[in-house]
Amino acid sequence: MILAKEFNRNEFARNSDLSISTIRPELPTIAQFGSNSPLELSRASSLAAPFVNGVDLNCGCPQSWACAETLGAALMEKRELVRDMVIATRQRLGDDGWGVGKEADIDNPKGKGRSVSVKIRVHKDLRKTVDFITTVLGDEHNRNIDWLTIHPRTRHTQSSVPINLEALELLTNMFGDKLPVLVSGDVFTLSTLPYTSHFLQLQPTFASNADKPESNKVPAPGNARLNLPKLAGMMSARALLANPALFAEYETCPWEAVDIFMTNVARAPLPLQLAIHHLTEMCGAGFGPDRSALLSKKERIHLTELDNWIDVIDFIDDVKESRGIEPVVRSTMDL
Ligand SMILES: Cc1cc2nc3c(=O)[nH]c(=O)nc-3n(C[C@H](O)[C@H](O)[C@H](O)COP(=O)(O)O)c2cc1C
Repeated sequence: MILAKEFNRNEFARNSDLSISTIRPELPTIAQFGSNSPLELSRASSLAAPFVNGVDLNCGCPQSWACAETLGAALMEKRELVRDMVIATRQRLGDDGWGVGKEADIDNPKGKGRSVSVKIRVHKDLRKTVDFITTVLGDEHNRNIDWLTIHPRTRHTQSSVPINLEALELLTNMFGDKLPVLVSGDVFTLSTLPYTSHFLQLQPTFASNADKPESNKVPAPGNARLNLPKLAGMMSARALLANPALFAEYETCPWEAVDIFMTNVARAPLPLQLAIHHLTEMCGAGFGPDRSALLSKKERIHLTELDNWIDVIDFIDDVKESRGIEPVVRSTMDL
């Protein structure tokens, strides 16, 4: 979540909050903003639009500082304001010359299609969520948002409590024909989802799973799982941090993901502590039933004590060698 007001006013905030991949420009990027003002959100979106494929409004962040500023989940009580923000943003992007025709602009010939979307939590009383979505959506034949992501927990539900599947089923059934509805929450591994949907039968888009060991393949969906035929996609946060190969159907983080991450950090440096944080997440036990980890707890602690990137590379290479794993040959061609 990028704070729109700060993004608009401060070049340092813009540079530190938004960076994009120039290595794989075909991968879409959505910039998500925190805002409570139609003018601020539309200005921030206008500034970000040349570099991203769409903008999203965060109506789900439960942190107290955000809610105190009427940002994030506090917006779940301000449905008209959210509607006004997305209308103003769509208008501004259209005025700037971007294609905001939703499905009609997915294959915009000049690559100028831009989406406007919203991520929400649910209310304890789901009728309020239905009212919220109905208001923000507007005219369903000319809707105000491209898609909606639902995190089926209330603002006060701990992330240790499973997502509310009944709420997800009701809301996807109700709105899934009107716009694409995505779910966020408890996407831990593709094989252990408590629901199934048509798109889960499709091949992953972002990475090849051709070389994956048989043991890592996703089993066929069980009959017992709730079918959500109108669910259009999924978002993962905690489990994806631990296993960036999740959507390529890996049950746990493979060494290859660590190698790709390290190569990318060499190409586009991150602050060392941030890079080490990602490595400890990827090398720890993930969120699926397989609790195995690439590094032991002692090794992860050692990793956090390193103070330069060369030592990090040497440490990872040494661990891999001690386990008989092929080292990655890093050539200047890679870099
Ligand atoms: C480290 C971290 C950062 C997050 N940042 C954002 C954010 O910027 N915007 C947002 O909408 N949600 C954010 N979330 C919430 C997630 O998008 C997601 O809704 C929530 O964690 C539940 O999904 P999960 O079970 O896949 O983690 C964040 C979650 C985590 C763990």
